[in-house]
Amino acid sequence: MEIREVGVVGCGLMGSGIAQVSAAAGFSTTVVEASRELADRGMANISKRLERLVEKGALSAGERAALGKRLRAGTELSQLAQCDLVIEAITEDAEEKCRFWGTLDPLLRPDAIRASNTSSVSITRMMMATSRPERFLGMHFFNPVPVMTLVELVKTLATDSDVYESAVAFTRKLGKTAVHTTDRPGFIVNRLLVPYLTDAVRALEEGVGTITDIDRAMKLGCNHPMGPFVLMDYIGLDTMYSIANILYEEFREPRFAPPGLLKRLVIAGRLGRKSGKGFYDYSDPQAPKPLDQFERL
Ligand code: 3HC
Repeated sequence: MEIREVGVVGCGLMGSGIAQVSAAAGFSTTVVEASRELADRGMANISKRLERLVEKGALSAGERAALGKRLRAGTELSQLAQCDLVIEAITEDAEEKCRFWGTLDPLLRPDAIRASNTSSVSITRMMMATSRPERFLGMHFFNPVPVMTLVELVKTLATDSDVYESAVAFTRKLGKTAVHTTDRPGFIVNRLLVPYLTDAVRALEEGVGTITDIDRAMKLGCNHPMGPFVLMDYIGLDTMYSIANILYEEFREPRFAPPGLLKRLVIAGRLGRKSGKGFYDYSDPQAPKPLDQFERL
């Protein structure tokens, strides 16, 4: 099936990135948000990113204008009725996602490909909330979407192989690389990444090193672009906590359990960059200060 019209639900961090790369790859793209205010905010973030690309010379003014014409934002799910592919990127909450798919499904074309960008909610559970499990799959993008070149494609027991192949072709047209994975919690990347990150928290709790030293060690010692604490603040500590809980619930192995410090930070509303504080304090965004310099953890 050839994909021409793409729908994205949610214009937050992930949804706005997906909508941007879809329109940039030449697809007519409609992004739907819950309110006009959220839609406008998401589109303003996309515009800011595109202006930066124009300034850097990575995008011509003409290409930017053409991209703008291919991308629209709205607040009605019925605007997705003609889409060949709809990618959902709403809040990471299993109940909410299943309810949402039950509402969206009858509004879509029967043959439309239904995809969720979830990082940890069961694709199988979501597909069973629709009338077309065989047209459903997971398409997991990475943050920041315009930069990260991986998409995990999650095939369930029900996904048709032509649906999967169409998603592979679409991913390639976005300039990204697909890896195939099955519907197990965390898929590939988070299954390996999240225990590494939560282990960094445990190492901090045990006094193996400070936030600064652990981050520096992994950046310089392993050539990672970000140390584990910078990366957790970037992902969002609430997201980290939720993925660790889902992994622990499934596998019941202590190495997957979220550490106490992570839980306390989330309860205290310290969610990372987005809330201004996490493992670092972002009062001065140019010079974030590690939390353990000021507080006993
Ligand atoms: N949107 C668009 N472009 C961005 C961006 C954003 N949010 N942030 C950075 N960029 C671009 C910059 O414009 C720059 O482009 P250029 O090379 O053409 O000038 C390039 O990325 C490099 O940016 P910077 O020089 O500002 O900074 P860095 O070199 O430190 O790169 C980074 C920033 C790309 C975010 C890099 O630090 C990195 O790769 N970090 C790791 C990110 C990562 O691991 N993501 C996965 C998280 S896990 C996940 O998403 C799964 C989920 O389920 C939890």
